[in-house]
Amino acid sequence: MTVFKNKKIILGVCGGIAAYKSAELVRLLIKQGAQVQVVMTQAALAFVGALTFQALSGRQVRSVLFDLDAEAGMGHIELARWADLILIAPATANSIAKIAHGMADDLLSTLSLASKAPLLIAPAMNQQMWHSEATQKNIDILLNRTGVLVCGPGEGEQACGDIGAGRMKEPAQLLSCCANLLASIVTNNDLSDPHLLEGKRVLITAGPTIEDIDPVRYVSNRSSGKMGYAIAQAAQQYGAEVLLISGPVALDAPDSIGLIRVRSAEQMHDAVFQVIDDIDIFIATAAVADYRPVKKVLNKIKKNTDTLTIELVKNPNILADVAALKDKPMTIGFAAETNDLEKYALDKLQRKNLDMIAANKVGESQGFEADNNELHLFWHNDGYKKLPYASKKQLARQLIDEIVLSLVAKD
Ligand code: PMT
Repeated sequence: MTVFKNKKIILGVCGGIAAYKSAELVRLLIKQGAQVQVVMTQAALAFVGALTFQALSGRQVRSVLFDLDAEAGMGHIELARWADLILIAPATANSIAKIAHGMADDLLSTLSLASKAPLLIAPAMNQQMWHSEATQKNIDILLNRTGVLVCGPGEGEQACGDIGAGRMKEPAQLLSCCANLLASIVTNNDLSDPHLLEGKRVLITAGPTIEDIDPVRYVSNRSSGKMGYAIAQAAQQYGAEVLLISGPVALDAPDSIGLIRVRSAEQMHDAVFQVIDDIDIFIATAAVADYRPVKKVLNKIKKNTDTLTIELVKNPNILADVAALKDKPMTIGFAAETNDLEKYALDKLQRKNLDMIAANKVGESQGFEADNNELHLFWHNDGYKKLPYASKKQLARQLIDEIVLSLVAKD
């Protein structure tokens, strides 16, 4: 991954059992061409010896804020300016709290406060500590800052015997998250460049599908198409060749964007598969009806019975079928959830083998139809980013930014 070449990375290691895994992370980063300066907290020193990190990074490990020898060389502020990226792995609840609240009482928290570099946090702690209201609030504070990415924690058995969320992500997964953040540095000054997606063919599905019961009645949902149409426009602004496949909506066809109008899920599926071989990026924003009536009734059903049963059959899953292709495009799904957003979104991400999923809460005044929304982005490599409440047009732009960064990170 070329994004690592000569990048200066501060690896902050906090006190936790996962600290031993960070040694492997140093090795992977160096192998990718990065320069790594390890900074350990006092608690981290109780878990792993500084010598291990020193040998792997080829640099003296720093652990004290005011160290006469170290300050005579690269002082702590200089070190903060040196970094292209600060990666804290493992990040304990204590360090997360300090960084969220701007405390600077040791070298790592001071560096994090004094540096403009993007920050990648890999939490690792007991599952109860992770789920505590205080830690979750601190994570929210950090996620609302620009340039901060939280990777993990993973779920599983913990050193303390508990089972749940709190395990540090594996070094290879953290490497991928770093690549995404570094890509944002590479492109940062250029994200306004209208050519970033030039030469890329982007296919977007939008709106609802309509599944006819009889000539006057149907099964559908409340999707207005606003989110999908906004994404199509944002992709076009980056120079992509965009094709929009839309269910029935009241929106005007966007200027100079190819538009195919369909009605049912089966028609949308056919339209997608007519073109998918030439597509680089597929974004499934459409609220495709999951079921359709088994029988297509030609005449209006008469209301001469007190009850009526309509048998439904499952529609093809367009997104899953695209993601299952041998040469699949970069595939981004949406997840519309009323509850347990993260759990269901992650399940769809993994089960359908997607590159990214954008999850949103839907309900009476949320997600569907509204002009504003909030998105939670989950990547296949365990990256997570919240796009806070904003207009769908702004969110579309930010989503496309994230896709551009992922493409750069892949190179
Ligand atoms: O159109 P708006 O009013 O602006 O509202 C936007 C939105 C709420 C519709 C949008 O943000 C959104 O969440 N779209 C996905 C809606 C949905 O159907 O979610 P789902 O969790 O049921 O489906 C998961 C994914 O599978 C989606 O990417 C969907 O497009 C895709 N899918 C689902 C079923 C199916 N048969 N084929 C599919 O491709």
